[in-house]
Amino acid sequence: MKSAPAAGARAGGPRLPDHALWVNGRIVRGEAAALSLYDRGARDGEGVFETLRVYAGQPFQWERHLERLVLAAAELGFPVPPAPSLLRAGIVDLLEAGGMSDAVARITVTRGIPGGRPTRSGCWIEIEPLEGRLWAGARSGSASARFSRRPFEPGPLGRYKTTSRLAYRLASEEARTARVDEALLVSAAGEVMEGATSNLFAVIGGEVLTPPLARGILPGITRAWVFGAAAELALACREATLDRAAVAGADEIFLTNSVQQVVPLASLEGRPLHAQAVGERLREAYRAAVERERAGVGAGRGD
Ligand SMILES: Cc1ncc(COP(=O)(O)O)c(C=O)c1O
Repeated sequence: MKSAPAAGARAGGPRLPDHALWVNGRIVRGEAAALSLYDRGARDGEGVFETLRVYAGQPFQWERHLERLVLAAAELGFPVPPAPSLLRAGIVDLLEAGGMSDAVARITVTRGIPGGRPTRSGCWIEIEPLEGRLWAGARSGSASARFSRRPFEPGPLGRYKTTSRLAYRLASEEARTARVDEALLVSAAGEVMEGATSNLFAVIGGEVLTPPLARGILPGITRAWVFGAAAELALACREATLDRAAVAGADEIFLTNSVQQVVPLASLEGRPLHAQAVGERLREAYRAAVERERAGVGAGRGD
């Protein structure tokens, strides 16, 4: 594994982070962590990515994440991304460089620089400690959310985790300004889609309901895990169109993503949600799946 000199301060520029990144097969730092301006990912935002958690050195739900990444790249006409074994070795190298075994990893793949034969995708991997990424409410057990005030449509690319994330970022900023953990994305017609960085489940009349993938939202890896776990726990779980009023009046709401795991909400729009039993059961089941993987008993569900 190669390592580049530390970044340090750049004259007149921001101080770059000094952690190691894996860029197109090399471990680099600071200014060396660069993407060509000729890369279509840099120029036109033509990229897809995966964010996943690494527990005790093991990326959780690795096959699921890689499957989503490779399928997205193929469906969107990207060059073939680096082999999963290479990406996994990159994560191992970064964990070693950062002295970490638990972390959040992000793998980004771009459409690369056109004209080569064959065209290679651009690819980089970042890892960071979990601390800075966890929602305050996920840590304290009092997670909160609000509806984004900016109407949202997932559009034809909403089912891919593309790097064109401005609509999602603006909603996340709304949440931060309002001092809540997550913003829920709602269409102009009042249909609740997903969170800015999560999928949403509402418990209504004893059923666990979640917006349909057919609406073009992100097919979350954790969302898929919940369906499997709900079946094992004999919980009725199905897709359903949910409008704002249905979500606002739900008995229980929980959010899912690969970093936060399963997060029962304690409040929505400032209204306390007292019931959390279903979300708690699934949260515990998720943690147990992680522990099983940590102990090497087997990968997470579906791996
Ligand atoms: C818009 C959106 N929906 C849902 C999710 C949850 O996906 P996953 O469970 O694969 O992390 C994410 C994750 O970042 C997201 O950005």
